[in-house]
Amino acid sequence: MYKKLIEAALEAREHAYVPYSGFKVGSAVLMEDDSIFSGCNIENASYGATNCAERTAIFNAVSHGHHKIKAIAVVGDIHNFTYPCGICRQVIVEFAESKEIPIIIIKSKEEYIVKTMEDILPGAFTKIDLDKEKEVKNV
Ligand code: THU
Repeated sequence: MYKKLIEAALEAREHAYVPYSGFKVGSAVLMEDDSIFSGCNIENASYGATNCAERTAIFNAVSHGHHKIKAIAVVGDIHNFTYPCGICRQVIVEFAESKEIPIIIIKSKEEYIVKTMEDILPGAFTKIDLDKEKEVKNV
């Protein structure tokens, strides 16, 4: 079902720039118009400047004018399921079409699990919270 998205994440993983951790990650996002954007993790000698694969994929989509994610796939360790880190979960929710979008966590083309956004970041803080506050203040 998610064949193309999974293949895009696996292919992006091959481009991971990981001279420090050696831990390759690839990700791909399916957008509202069915376009797919991918990305890999990109490390830096100043470790904190590292960008995770999920955020690279999402920033790639946003840079091409797409803001609504219908599904996201991620592959890190191919022997274990690698879930998105906390920062990436927050960035995914910013652009997720709904709380129910599938988060496809891949080991290989054949082996993957599917979670939802709500599963991995329950009670997420989003722009809705900011809008509610504005309403109360009437601004
Ligand atoms: N990494 C990701 O790309 N995505 C995640 O969700 C978890 C961590 C990367 C960052 C770093 O390059 C390497 O994995 C080890 O932390």
